[in-house]
Amino acid sequence: MDVEMKTEAEAQALDPVREQVLEENRRVHTLENAHYLDRHPEQTNRYQKRILKNALDEFERHLDRPGGEVLDVGCGTGYLFLPLLRRGFQMTGVDLSETLVEVLDRRVRKEFVDDVRLVAQDVESFLQQETKRYDGIVCSAILHHLYDYESAVRQLAERLKPGGILLIFFEPLKQRIASKLRFRLHRLLGRLDEARYERDMHRRGIPLIRDDYEVADYQRRFGGIDPDHLTHLLNDSGLGLLEKTAYCARRTAWAAWIANRLLGTANTFNLLARKF
Ligand SMILES: C[S@@+](CC[C@H](N)C(=O)[O-])C[C@H]1O[C@@H](n2cnc3c(N)ncnc32)[C@H](O)[C@@H]1O
Repeated sequence: MDVEMKTEAEAQALDPVREQVLEENRRVHTLENAHYLDRHPEQTNRYQKRILKNALDEFERHLDRPGGEVLDVGCGTGYLFLPLLRRGFQMTGVDLSETLVEVLDRRVRKEFVDDVRLVAQDVESFLQQETKRYDGIVCSAILHHLYDYESAVRQLAERLKPGGILLIFFEPLKQRIASKLRFRLHRLLGRLDEARYERDMHRRGIPLIRDDYEVADYQRRFGGIDPDHLTHLLNDSGLGLLEKTAYCARRTAWAAWIANRLLGTANTFNLLARKF
């Protein structure tokens, strides 16, 4: 009997759904182009900026290695990459979208820094080729775009030096609804926030591309990412949890404030872990 053995890379390349998810991510992020962060004020409003600053402060404090080597997975237009560069880290960024990598490259040049490494590639292929280990790895809003985020997380764990720090930031949270009333208020607030967002984008002449994300946001089909499952996965891969925070991200700071301070609902999480 002939037994056909495929390498893991070959098996992955033959999976049509995986290919479709990659293709759709390339397409939709090319559409986003330099307007990516303009279109996503939930990442840049005042409320979220404070969360981002605290997360980077904690990452830096635990890393305890000034100027260490940091890999930003799914770096996009530089949401984490640029602030970390300004904090003096040696940055490598990988992203599937050539368009977004070019945008980031132009932004890096404006910082008058030339020793960064930017790679336009699928994260899993990159990690299979990469032998280097990093002091820190950061991922913002990338895991939910991956066909097999569990495999990517295992590979990321291998690319961390002992004592290295992993920051997983701004992932859609697989929610558990405890109170129906609170959930209804959460949804109502979300609708009001979206209506205001649409008016604002219209006023600024920025076209919305929301419907295009159906396939690209692949893990949303399964409700998002479960941080408890992720914690088990990290533990199995030799990492210990340092912090896990769930909160509500909204387009506008006022809506985020109401959701977090009054309703106490959550749709997003951040997680920090250390390699043993
Ligand atoms: C939601 S955006 C987040 C970008 C950036 N990290 C941020 O927080 O602003 C997701 C990013 O992941 C990238 N991406 C999607 N699938 C990828 C893959 N398989 N490998 C590498 N990057 C990928 C996209 O091109 C996009 O830049």
